[in-house]
Amino acid sequence: MAWFSVPRPLAVLLALSLFGDAVVGIQLDLTSETSIKQVASTIAFDMMSYYKGNLSGQTPGLLPGPPATPQIQNAGYFWWEAGAMFGSMMDYWYYTGDATYNAVVSQGMLFQTGDNDDYLPTNQTNGMGNDDQSFWGMSAMTAAELGFPNPPADKPQWLALAQGVYNVQAGKWDNTTCNGGLHWQAFSFLNGYNYKNAIANGGFFNIASRLAVYTGNDSYAQSAERTWDWMTSVGLIDEDYNVWDGASSLTNCTPIVREQYSYNSAIYLLGAAHMYNYTKGSAIWQTRVEGMLTATITNFFPNGIAYEKICEAKPSTCTIDMLSFKAYLTRWMAAATKQAPFIFDRVLAVLQTSATAAALQCSGSPADHPNGRMCGLSWSLGAAWDGTSGVGQEMAAMEVIQSNLIQQSKAPLTANTGGTSSGDPNAGIGDTSTTTPGGVKPITTADRAGAGILTALVAAVILGGLAWVSMPEKILS
Ligand SMILES: *[C@@H]1O[C@H](CO)[C@@H](O)[C@H](O)[C@H]1NC(C)=O
Ligand SMILES: *[C@@H]1O[C@H](CO)[C@@H](O)[C@H](O)[C@H]1NC(C)=O
Ligand SMILES: *[C@@H]1O[C@H](CO)[C@@H](O)[C@H](O)[C@H]1NC(C)=O
Ligand SMILES: *[C@@H]1O[C@H](CO)[C@@H](O)[C@H](O)[C@H]1NC(C)=O
Ligand SMILES: *[C@@H]1O[C@H](CO)[C@@H](O)[C@H](O)[C@H]1NC(C)=O
Repeated sequence: MAWFSVPRPLAVLLALSLFGDAVVGIQLDLTSETSIKQVASTIAFDMMSYYKGNLSGQTPGLLPGPPATPQIQNAGYFWWEAGAMFGSMMDYWYYTGDATYNAVVSQGMLFQTGDNDDYLPTNQTNGMGNDDQSFWGMSAMTAAELGFPNPPADKPQWLALAQGVYNVQAGKWDNTTCNGGLHWQAFSFLNGYNYKNAIANGGFFNIASRLAVYTGNDSYAQSAERTWDWMTSVGLIDEDYNVWDGASSLTNCTPIVREQYSYNSAIYLLGAAHMYNYTKGSAIWQTRVEGMLTATITNFFPNGIAYEKICEAKPSTCTIDMLSFKAYLTRWMAAATKQAPFIFDRVLAVLQTSATAAALQCSGSPADHPNGRMCGLSWSLGAAWDGTSGVGQEMAAMEVIQSNLIQQSKAPLTANTGGTSSGDPNAGIGDTSTTTPGGVKPITTADRAGAGILTALVAAVILGGLAWVSMPEKILS
């Protein structure tokens, strides 16, 4: 093979191995706290290099790139992923103590709250899913729990923002179809509204259970219970604790779409762990936590290495969203050990094997980051970089690696144990945009074409049992 025909990443690897002892990729020593923090710092830097929202002329809180369309799936990052990324940067600060990015994170979190401080900014109306809103709400909740620096007094506070999201979504619980549940999309005029799914209900369950622990207010726990009960009643959580993707509300939520995503499993694991903690270690929530953990490990950790089984096999069919799911899988598993310490050993074991594999996979040199250390997603491939790079892959590698510090990190705060974030139980209530959203742009012909494709796909999947995997999770966002 001629040197010039060697693919660039391979060329870098070869060059480094032929010329001297230069180390390829990222070296991680899990027995050293310093090593874990250094690696997390490197990956945080690389991840944040994609974020331009703090530069002049840019919009704080948005990741760059044109919105993805059915034609160009991986063209850019959706709004929700930026909210998720800020949450991962709060984790980064929690695990490492490095406050370098805190101001940038706060700026983005506070710029996107929307006019009613419930993460429904009008610019995002045309693609707003309840799950999208939840990802920002969960990051606000994380800020309250971790004691992330409070916003200035004239700005909305972290706890109140999470309560705003909770209140808006509690008002959208819909008993008229499927006996309950939340729709996927936030507004009835959006395509995808007639889909009730695991992630939309999981976001609500997750926030409700965490608010119950943080505030001690039983209303939140009752909502969490009701959501879990609904999920099991329609079979989206089955008796083996598999979490299935969703079902059409037009057909009374039957049949269900039997596809599994790692973040769905983990969002329920973390919520269940909070309910276990809230109920002071009740047997019923212990059983659910155990069951959900076992299913999570069985489904998503073959050989102990996290694997996004719906799309990761070569050739990868992961959408830009799916490339980030392992970040939430691993961060939520780690966080669950704080609420339900009895699962610690089982969680740490797979976080260790996965972190080691993830660090090896950080060996890429894509054209936009030719540094020999960009992370792929296919951790099972060892040091042979899978050829992909981006925010999701960096976030996933950072979370799984820094999560190995969970044992020595402080317990999340509650209002009773030093949490200082101010709440507002009525936040978000009366937000008229939830019924008559403002800022709705006229639907263009292109939107209609895209929407038609989505409708056709959803119909085909639900009626015909076509492979769901061919449909990007967030085609419309
Ligand atoms: C924007 O944030 C990055 C870190 O992500 C930092 O290096 C840079 O200095 C910031 N720029 C401005 C103008 O704040
Ligand atoms: C909404 O879009 C306008 C126009 O692009 C922009 O100026 C504004 O900053 C955006 N607001 C948010 C919250 O993203
Ligand atoms: C929906 O039904 C549940 C019981 O399944 C009940 O607890 C709840 O109050 C009902 N909600 C509304 C808005 O009717
Ligand atoms: C508890 O939460 C519920 C639901 O959000 C709210 O209506 C109520 O005011 C809260 N109670 C207290 C004491 O904060
Ligand atoms: C609840 O969480 C706290 C904080 O992490 C922990 O100390 C406590 O042991 C947990 N309770 C139970 C019943 O496990």
